[in-house]
Amino acid sequence: MYRSNTCGELRIENVGQKVTLAGWVQKVRKLGGMTFIDLRDRYGITQLVVDATAPAELIETASSLGREFVIQVVGTVVERQAKNAKMATGEVEITVECINVLNKSVTPPFTIEEESDGGEDIRAKYRYLDLRRPPLQRALALRHRLAQEIRSYLDQQGFMEIETPYLIKSTPEGARDFVVPSRMNPGQFYALPQSPQTFKQLLMVSGYDRYFQIVRCFRDEDLRADRQPEFTQIDCEMSFVEQEDVLNTFEGMMRQMFKNAIGVDIPNPLPRMSWYDAMDFYGSDKPDVRFGMKIHDITSLAQGHGFSVFDSVEYVGAIAAEGCAEYTRKELDALTEWVKRPQVGAKGLVYIKCNADGTFKSSVDKFYTPEEVKAMAEAVEAKAGDLVLILCGAKRKAQTMLGVLRIEMGNRLGYRDPKVFAPLWIVDFPLLEWDDETQRFYAMHHPFTAPKPEHEKWFYSDKKEDLERVCANAYDFVLNGTELGGGSIRIHNADMQQRMFEVLGISKEDAEYKFGFIINAFKFGAPPHGGLAFGFDRVCALFGGQETIRDYIAFPKNNQGRDVMIDSPSQIDQTQLDELMLDIRPLEQN
Ligand code: AMO
Repeated sequence: MYRSNTCGELRIENVGQKVTLAGWVQKVRKLGGMTFIDLRDRYGITQLVVDATAPAELIETASSLGREFVIQVVGTVVERQAKNAKMATGEVEITVECINVLNKSVTPPFTIEEESDGGEDIRAKYRYLDLRRPPLQRALALRHRLAQEIRSYLDQQGFMEIETPYLIKSTPEGARDFVVPSRMNPGQFYALPQSPQTFKQLLMVSGYDRYFQIVRCFRDEDLRADRQPEFTQIDCEMSFVEQEDVLNTFEGMMRQMFKNAIGVDIPNPLPRMSWYDAMDFYGSDKPDVRFGMKIHDITSLAQGHGFSVFDSVEYVGAIAAEGCAEYTRKELDALTEWVKRPQVGAKGLVYIKCNADGTFKSSVDKFYTPEEVKAMAEAVEAKAGDLVLILCGAKRKAQTMLGVLRIEMGNRLGYRDPKVFAPLWIVDFPLLEWDDETQRFYAMHHPFTAPKPEHEKWFYSDKKEDLERVCANAYDFVLNGTELGGGSIRIHNADMQQRMFEVLGISKEDAEYKFGFIINAFKFGAPPHGGLAFGFDRVCALFGGQETIRDYIAFPKNNQGRDVMIDSPSQIDQTQLDELMLDIRPLEQN
């Protein structure tokens, strides 16, 4: 037996017991004649002591230990003189009788402790060492816990876990595909699934009326803190359901996950907000509702006073930043520059300071009387001491910019505590989204989402404005400003699916080529169905109080989509290329 206990287990009750521990040497300290060793495994750290009176050989072995050596020790649990309340095992230590060095280690490139001294790149290169650190071990333990909760909940609800293939054909989630060349079919490629969307719908046709899978998905898109090229979905689909059934089922799953994994009670039922309200009041389809600072439409108050910037636009909107009236000229200039950055895209920023003495000072005072300025401030529900921030432009664009500014002000004001959880459903999404650049409609969710039955009349109309009005029974689960999941009630009728492709400008031939299998399957008795998928990595990160998902994935990619540990992607040798009948063009010189 290598060990009788783990390094996180021993307490004052164990004093007097003879134990065997095994783990990694985190630290060795000499104090007087004594040697103290911090021994670590994934359960914790236990302090070992080699007394000055121990046999010389033992003292010598203890002194020879380096960081990350793997050792086994036999000793007795004793009460510590100087207790360490910060450590779970801090009341005891082990008086060592024997040390067995199981393996040596070269000096690690960074400290393997709660806080490491290593930069991001070096830790990514030695990910297997970084994974020894407690924060990452906690992150992966949380991920494991959540996966167990999901499986147990869905199993109890009668869901079957069914795997779907990875080597498939292009899927319609809107990102670029990763493709895999086929040796046996020269010149042909598989695509890796952006999601199992089409397969789960086919499983509904096959009668597996409650399906789920914790499944890897692949999307070749620009990476961000909450995006990885390969990520995991909790993917689900149900037959003979309406939106209400889907929302209730997965609200239940989330409630159990919150409760059992992190001890948090979420409201029952969860709040719901229409997509239109989310855009109008939060400037985002994933509103952070931990704080107010809602967007107000002040177009009618702002227009008609000779200020051409406001008069020439569709929409003027504002938010009130609490207690920020004291912003200096310099701070306001910096905020103006901030909103002008391409990531926000505003042309400028207008402000009203609501001074503590009840007066107002705005950057456009010459166009408005003090009463008019006051009316604008009141419309935004600003109080004395607040700073009203105003942006304008095309309605949705200006609202989106205000949404970004709102989040920035929320961050500055400390309103975005990661330990506070404000989940909600966003519902009633438009079915289609018009793109000016390509002059065509795109599916807001994906092309298998059905129009609301009561909007079908517009769906079959050829008028752009009718199509723009069509809403879907589509829904997103949003937590603290992040979209954790989304889904919809699907089209289950071949003719309607064909119409959808037509609306999206996908020719009959193209639709047949890409999705013929599903259109065909729908001709064989497809039940009404709907479902959703959660981004599992995002769920884990937010439950753990982080925005970036990387720490919740054992072996993630960096921002360039590289795994720097295994050095991938990399070139393949000529034989492999020949087998695949692929030629690599030399990179063009810039
Ligand atoms: P959607 O495209 O909204 O829906 O994806 C579902 C959820 O997956 C997560 N997600 C990601 N997480 C990390 N990195 C990424 N690159 C990434 N892309 C998406 C998000 C998102 O909410 N088939 C549909 C679901 C359905 O209709 O049932 C789908 O994939 O949290």
